[in-house]
Amino acid sequence: FEYAAPANEPVLSYAPGSAERIALKKQLAAFKGEVADIPMYIGGQEVRTGKTVDLRPPHEIKHKLGHFHVGDASHVKSAIAAALEAREKWANMDWEQRAGIFLRAADLLATKYRYHINAATMLGQSKNAFQAEIDSACELIDFLRYNVHFLSEIYRQQPVCAPGIHNRVEYRPLEGFVLAVTPFNFTAIAGNLPTSAALCGNVVVWKPANTQVFAAQIIMKVLIEAGLPAGVINLVYAGGPLIGDICFADPHFAGIHFTGSTGVFQTMWKTIGENIHKYKTYPRIVGETGGKDFVLIHKSADVDIAVTALARGAFEYQGQKCSAASRAYIPSNLADNIKSKLVAELKTMKMGTTEDFSNFINAVIDERSFDKIASYIDNAKKDPAAKIIAGGNYNKSEGYFIEPTIIETTDPKYITMCEEIFGPVLTIHVYEADKFEEIMQIVDTTSEYALTGAVIAQDRYAVELATRKLVNAAGNFYINDKPTGAVVGQQPFGGARASGTNDKAGSMLNLYRWLSARSIKETF
Ligand code: ALA
Repeated sequence: FEYAAPANEPVLSYAPGSAERIALKKQLAAFKGEVADIPMYIGGQEVRTGKTVDLRPPHEIKHKLGHFHVGDASHVKSAIAAALEAREKWANMDWEQRAGIFLRAADLLATKYRYHINAATMLGQSKNAFQAEIDSACELIDFLRYNVHFLSEIYRQQPVCAPGIHNRVEYRPLEGFVLAVTPFNFTAIAGNLPTSAALCGNVVVWKPANTQVFAAQIIMKVLIEAGLPAGVINLVYAGGPLIGDICFADPHFAGIHFTGSTGVFQTMWKTIGENIHKYKTYPRIVGETGGKDFVLIHKSADVDIAVTALARGAFEYQGQKCSAASRAYIPSNLADNIKSKLVAELKTMKMGTTEDFSNFINAVIDERSFDKIASYIDNAKKDPAAKIIAGGNYNKSEGYFIEPTIIETTDPKYITMCEEIFGPVLTIHVYEADKFEEIMQIVDTTSEYALTGAVIAQDRYAVELATRKLVNAAGNFYINDKPTGAVVGQQPFGGARASGTNDKAGSMLNLYRWLSARSIKETF
């Protein structure tokens, strides 16, 4: 069965007065008018423990959206047992049938549940309507459909045969279960990590970030409605270390599909290493772990393209995309022009709740994140090597609001040029316009990450040079564009170095990691 590359899901505009805006507002009001009681989903059963954690919109912390039930060690163990019980039937099911479930889920998200998933992302993760639409609707739907396309391409790859010999390769799922650990910042990633492994015939234990549970449980309900059999994906809420300890000590642990921080990923990798003798098979370790993404502007750049790349790249979703522009290198000949236009642009960015569609900036995800971002800003206020040229204020009385902030530094290795902040903070450094070669060297060596990066230049030689010299500095490299917003099927996403294993989400490269091939030779 071939499944041709699908068209990307069209992005709705939510223009004032549009039917989609009215429908989305209605769903937001519905979610705000109730208190959701959110269970875990283990072996097809809803599980409520009575031990709950409250969910509140990051931009309106006094409002309770609902609560979710937290599990303990016994729930993690039952999730693994349920997964293993479902495994054989799922792995042996015709793949067209498996694919049909995810394609149906994509269609349900595109139609019946589009406003549910977007409203949940807007309220639970403080993402505005437009950012929610490209994430929780379009990107998630695209992942579900494209993965079917990619897997159909993989299955078709077969070896040659010789006279009297028939060869074939069977793309089996892994022998065991996969743990999916998903981050708060993209609902699409939450959907992709468990479903990509499951589509390949694997069974999954899924642990979402606490701050993402509101959207995650909707994805789970949609998958069930689409026909996902019990136990194939088990959604559990428990502490990350607890889930990790139990899963990594299990002989049937066969892989982890992770998006989150470098520190957590490295700790997990070590634990997996320590347990390596216990496993039936070498586990697959796939992770995307953040970035310190650059925008390098050349003296020949179009100033308006540069300003847009910085404003949108750095501040959409409060800079909480792993792909967000967070360090910029501006040539001296364009510096005054770019800075004044950028600062003016920031003044137009309204900040507030996601329910008011005119707000561009919403809240950052939680108090811990707020405090961490604020401490970088405070540090910059005190350091003579740094100057705040826009924003710099923050307030957490109603929600975790931080103004879009630009720090200018004379030191290209200043702390906010190097460390991932994960918030609405862009640091800029003005370099001597004729020292492009030298600045490229600095771009390449300043950060340990290598997720995304952009070069802005009209001069073709500069574009070619940067593309070549920065070959390992970014897994997603953009020319005359912002470094965010990779589209499934168009720009496979991921980076190497400290940014992850670079197993490109939304590509065949990723799906190969969830398959364990068997070569079969038959002689006649
Ligand atoms: N796919 C997301 C982006 O490119 C992470 O911004």
